[in-house]
Amino acid sequence: MCGIVAVTGYRKALSLLLDGLEKLEYRGYDSAGIAIVNSENKELVCNKSEGKLINLINKVGQKEILGTVGIGHTRWATHGKPEVKNAHPHLDSSGKVAVVQNGIIENFLELRNKLEEEGIIFKSDTDTEVIPHLINKELNNLKKLNLEDSGSTLLIAVRNVLSDLEGAYALAVLWSDAPDSLVIARRQAPLIIGLGEGEFICASDTPAIVDFTQTILPMEDEEIALLTPLGIELYDSNNERQYRNPISLKCSEQVVDKKNFRHYMHKEIYEQPELTQKWIKNYLIKNSESGLIKVNYSFDTNFLENIERIQILACGTSRHASMVGSYLLEQFAGIPTDVFYASEFRYSPPPILPNTLTIGVTQSGETADTLAALSMEISRREDLKDELCKPNLIAITNRPDSSIGRQISNVIDISAGIEIGVAATKTFFGQLLSFYGLAITFAQIKRSKTDDEINQLISNLENLPPLLKELVDQHNEISEKLAHDFSDIKDVIFLGRGINYPIALEGALKLKEISYIHAAGYPAGEMKHGPIALLEKKVPVISIATPGKVFEKVISNAQEAKARDSYLIGIAPKCDGTEIFDYLMPLPLSDEWLSPLLAVIPLQLLSYHIAAHRGLDVDQPRNLAKSVTVE
Ligand code: AGP
Repeated sequence: MCGIVAVTGYRKALSLLLDGLEKLEYRGYDSAGIAIVNSENKELVCNKSEGKLINLINKVGQKEILGTVGIGHTRWATHGKPEVKNAHPHLDSSGKVAVVQNGIIENFLELRNKLEEEGIIFKSDTDTEVIPHLINKELNNLKKLNLEDSGSTLLIAVRNVLSDLEGAYALAVLWSDAPDSLVIARRQAPLIIGLGEGEFICASDTPAIVDFTQTILPMEDEEIALLTPLGIELYDSNNERQYRNPISLKCSEQVVDKKNFRHYMHKEIYEQPELTQKWIKNYLIKNSESGLIKVNYSFDTNFLENIERIQILACGTSRHASMVGSYLLEQFAGIPTDVFYASEFRYSPPPILPNTLTIGVTQSGETADTLAALSMEISRREDLKDELCKPNLIAITNRPDSSIGRQISNVIDISAGIEIGVAATKTFFGQLLSFYGLAITFAQIKRSKTDDEINQLISNLENLPPLLKELVDQHNEISEKLAHDFSDIKDVIFLGRGINYPIALEGALKLKEISYIHAAGYPAGEMKHGPIALLEKKVPVISIATPGKVFEKVISNAQEAKARDSYLIGIAPKCDGTEIFDYLMPLPLSDEWLSPLLAVIPLQLLSYHIAAHRGLDVDQPRNLAKSVTVE
């Protein structure tokens, strides 16, 4: 949430900042702004615009702003409306200190009140604005000490201020009296330093860095750094200087290319068959001696043998994938599994039970709720000092280089390639595949299924890519036509049961996120307990009905909706029973275990085409951001 870019070096800061912000716009697009130290008169030049980055580019793109040191920000509003006055950077009263921040300063009101009592006049409603005022105050105090080096003075001032801040932040600070210097710091929000030759770029995420350098230094929690073109001084919270080797970026995974698609989301839906092919190649590995196929992890899986229960922490779409995962882990692998909203788990966790595996699922690897819930779980288990209750952890993510990758060493990399569309599609699919892998591993360990049953699932997965490819092409056409019928629709109900109930939830979430149509997903059997009151002609019901355990029940539930005049759309194979649907979005007949991987495709495409047909901003829907780095 919110993207930060900061540069110091020898090249013009303006274009570097704007390029970087463009790559981070998925993190928020309520407003954008930059501040640069003018290299001639050493004054800060600050420009901001409401709305998307393009507004800022139109404002400053043609300007000649001289200066090689600057900071930039693209905002997702938390405190204060998305207006220019609340756009970052925020300046102190002297106009010499500028700050961009990502995160929330929880004690900002208390700090603001104190500063106001001292006569400081605030210009914004944000929590961030307290920071430049506090830094300026510290700088004034430090001036009395006559420190020689202005960069170090800024570093000390920022460090002193940070000790007064509560909450999470990643921030970058400029001071016009230290014209070559940048100070950056992080606590529970990502910040990465890109190392060039005689220049540095610092950003919330790697796409902003990849065109600049492949060598990065991710900052650790509570670290602060002073950057000048001459080098980096990095310190931990105890003020100990830190020396670490930088790491290399896997640049192929960061390339942002829309190909011939109008929207990234559309392209990303189309990438799912290839992603599946890649997953099969990377993860389903045949042992050359035994001929057995095992799932290939990058970590030692011996600890899984003692696992008796699983808890999964996730948010949004990742939570929906986890719910399918939970179904597979319980019903296929026989392990009791619970899925929690990460935001709820942190404050009301269940009692600690022994031999528990905790799985954190997050495509971005930066979701604050998920990271905080995991930290809490790790520390309460470590505090117990009981070997049986020790934290056993796995992360499922598309960004092994992210905060979750640093928090948890056992990472399942979904390797979906960077996802730009704010509404997750291919990363959801990658998460599902990871759960199929885990269910196979646990079924092999626990002997919950026969070898034949396990091999059948493996072989069904191996046969999936061409089926998916056909499905995407077929449903792209179907959905494009069907989207016209949704022009006046205001509410849609999604129904599913068993393994496909989470797919109904995901279908509803996708539609809400990008088309702004109200949608709700229910387990089909729950309709009669209340939601059925919503049904009428103008409320279409989209029902996932795949042959298996609950097929007849789902069809009966669909009948109940039809009796209330609803227009019934079936995501179902053409077979006995599915003639009840007014409109059929056909699925191939398949094994029930596999059905979520098929059923989600028409739902993604339908949401996409409805939103595109309405002329909406599919890739950057209002009020959302790709990485939700505030709690
Ligand atoms: C997905 O379409 C959403 N934008 C959102 O629900 C997302 O899944 C959620 O914020 C969790 O993100 P994560 O996977 O990066 O943790």
